[in-house]
Amino acid sequence: MPLGSDSYLRAVREKYNAIEIWPSTDRWLAHVKTWIAASIAAWQPTLGLTPASRVLNAGSGDESYNVSPGLLIDCDIAEKKLANMPCGVAGDLANLPLKTGSVDVCVCVGSVVNYVGDLPKAIAEIARVVKGDGRLILEFESSRSPEYMFTAHFGQDVSQVSTFYIYENENIWVYAEEHVRRLLAEAGFEVVAESRTHFVAPMIYRFKKSLHYAARFARFDKYVSWIPGLNKHSANVIYLCQRRGKR
Ligand SMILES: C[S@@+](CC[C@H](N)C(=O)[O-])C[C@H]1O[C@@H](n2cnc3c(N)ncnc32)[C@H](O)[C@@H]1O
Repeated sequence: MPLGSDSYLRAVREKYNAIEIWPSTDRWLAHVKTWIAASIAAWQPTLGLTPASRVLNAGSGDESYNVSPGLLIDCDIAEKKLANMPCGVAGDLANLPLKTGSVDVCVCVGSVVNYVGDLPKAIAEIARVVKGDGRLILEFESSRSPEYMFTAHFGQDVSQVSTFYIYENENIWVYAEEHVRRLLAEAGFEVVAESRTHFVAPMIYRFKKSLHYAARFARFDKYVSWIPGLNKHSANVIYLCQRRGKR
């Protein structure tokens, strides 16, 4: 199934409508979820949110990450995930059902952009709905993950890969950080803080194809993240961005 096609989008929607997104039994994912939640919690005080703020959680699934205060708009193609969200709107990241300049902050985490074939369009769409001085928290999977070492995908700006999610095969796009930063800059977003995770587990997984086994090594991330040169080789990257536009 070609990535980025309507049939791919339909398959992603059906899949996410049917599954539990972060099963606690999956150590690999638990590590990512804890890191995303901690990053958002750490950056939240800098977001300048007030009860009058509007926050878009793009590709929300059923997780709000307690972003507050303000009105939290959860948007996802998997409409069943929105059933219990107070302000859920079904919609595609590449064509958001929101007005231009209508949100103060956009949170787009959980590898949402890795399912979008047209990353420039997705980032431009986020930039369209975020106010001129707004902020963005963006998380994505990197092509510089040790999982792709010694393959043609490694370090590519954009590459289609066959990887895994909850122990099942899935096809997504992965991106080089430089490419994502370039697109963010073109859209007026400056990266003001960043964090990375999953250095060791993907390396172990690259050579010993056991997810259960590899995921145990995630606890060594805190040491590797301080080693210059190695610390750019993570599976997951999260940025806090400040919009410098004029809208
Ligand atoms: C791994 S889940 C993460 C969900 C949530 N952000 C979280 O962190 O818990 C990825 C989500 O992206 C959504 N998604 C994928 N492609 C999308 C698109 N083009 N537009 C909107 N949502 C999309 C999926 O439906 C799914 O809910």
